[in-house]
Formats: sequence, C-alpha cells, structure tokens
Amino acid sequence: MTVTDIIKGRRSIRQFLDKEIPKELIREILDEARWSPSWGNTQSWNFHVLTGEALKNFKEANHAALLEELESTPDIPMPESWPDACRLRYNDMGRRLYDSLGIERRDTEARRKLRLKMTHLFQAPCMIVPTIHRENAIEYGLLDMGLIIQTICLLAHEKGLGTLIMAAAVQYPDIIRKIASIPAERKIIAGIALGYPDWDCELNQFERSRASVDEYVQWVE
Ligand SMILES: Cc1cc2nc3c(=O)[nH]c(=O)nc-3n(C[C@H](O)[C@H](O)[C@H](O)COP(=O)(O)O)c2cc1C
Repeated sequence: MTVTDIIKGRRSIRQFLDKEIPKELIREILDEARWSPSWGNTQSWNFHVLTGEALKNFKEANHAALLEELESTPDIPMPESWPDACRLRYNDMGRRLYDSLGIERRDTEARRKLRLKMTHLFQAPCMIVPTIHRENAIEYGLLDMGLIIQTICLLAHEKGLGTLIMAAAVQYPDIIRKIASIPAERKIIAGIALGYPDWDCELNQFERSRASVDEYVQWVE
C-alpha cells in the first residue's frame, strides 16, 4: 500500500468485530506514531489505552450518563456555530450516516438510540485517549495532537484495523479521568475507538464526500 492508498482507504469505522487486538499491535502503532511532527519537537501528547474491564466500565458509565441526560462538560468545547459551508457539510455527513441505517432525520427516537449506541463505541475493543497538559492546550499544541491522531489512524488502517475519532466519547471526561487515573492538569482531547472493522455493516459502507480542491485552494502566483 502506498501512502496515498492508506490516506484514501482510511474511513471512520462505526461497527467493530467482537475480536480483541493483540496488545503488541497497539503498542507497535503508538511506537511508530511517535515520529509525528510537533511544535519544537515538544511531543506534548500522552495516551491512555483502555481495554478489557476498564473499557467495559467506561462504556457502562458513559451510557448511564447519557441516559440520565447529565450535562456534558468536555475538556475541548464543541463549536457553538459553524460558517455556512461547514454547517452544510456537517449536516450532509449526518444525513449520509442516518440514511445508511434508514433513519429519518425527524426520527428523534432512532437518533437517540444511535447516540446511546455510540456510548459503547460501536463495540470497539479498545479506546485510545490522547491527552495534553492544560498549559500546552493552545492552538499549536492542539495541532500537534491532531497530527499524531491522524498518524495513529493511518497506521491502524495499514495494519488492518479501523478507527473512529470520537468527540462523543469524551463528553463526560471525569468518567475517563477516574477510570484511567488521568491527572486533572491534562485535557482529554477525544477518544479513538480502535478495532477490527465489521465491513458488512452499512455504517462502514456509506459513501463519504469531500469538497473539491478548487473549493478550498486559491493559487497565488
Ligand atoms: C475531532 C473529531 C471528532 C469526531 N467525533 C466523532 C463522533 O463523536 N462521532 C462520530 O460518529 N464521528 C466523529 N468523528 C468522525 C468524523 O465524522 C469523520 O472523520 C468525518 O465525517 C469524515 O469521514 P471519514 O473519517 O470517514 O473520512 C470525529 C472526527 C474528528 C476529527
């Protein structure tokens, strides 16, 4: 596989097989990902890898919090508004996802069920939790986090694994903080669900879209 194959072949995976990942393979991915670039080589990232009983406890607590409709308090706030073009793409993505399951946009109960399903990380057997020290959680530090997260996703794809970067997994950061003993001074960026993709599931098959290069590139000569 070329780098281009890996970049184009990766997609977000929203249903995983009931199959454990060898710990060595997860370690290999994280070992290779550390060659990602970072501001001044600061490498301010840190990762907690949740599997087994710890992950099960997380999923259950996360599910219960959503069921109880507890107020979410993510360390990284969700955007309050989007520029029009981004909002349209966001809505388009949601439509494709719901369409793949035959869910009508107005069907709030079915959408709620999907959100609840998300708390179980679509059955992923592993969640990698990237964190950054609060002092470094400014623009360049967060950019570094994005770089290594993408590297992890690409390496996982190369090794036959699937990933889903999830803001939804870290809406109740105190749950993860407690289970994984993550110090208060570290911000939890996202959850990376990791596992073997269930390619038969519609959620892993719907067609995705991207703006054309002419929509977002201006040539200045
Ligand atoms: C920071 C971030 C947070 C995300 N959070 C979620 C999430 O909570 N739930 C979800 O289903 N997808 C989530 N995604 C996945 C995006 O929806 C996905 O990357 C986008 O639609 C492009 O699709 P692709 O990854 O299949 O190319 C997230 C992606 C990023 C980068």
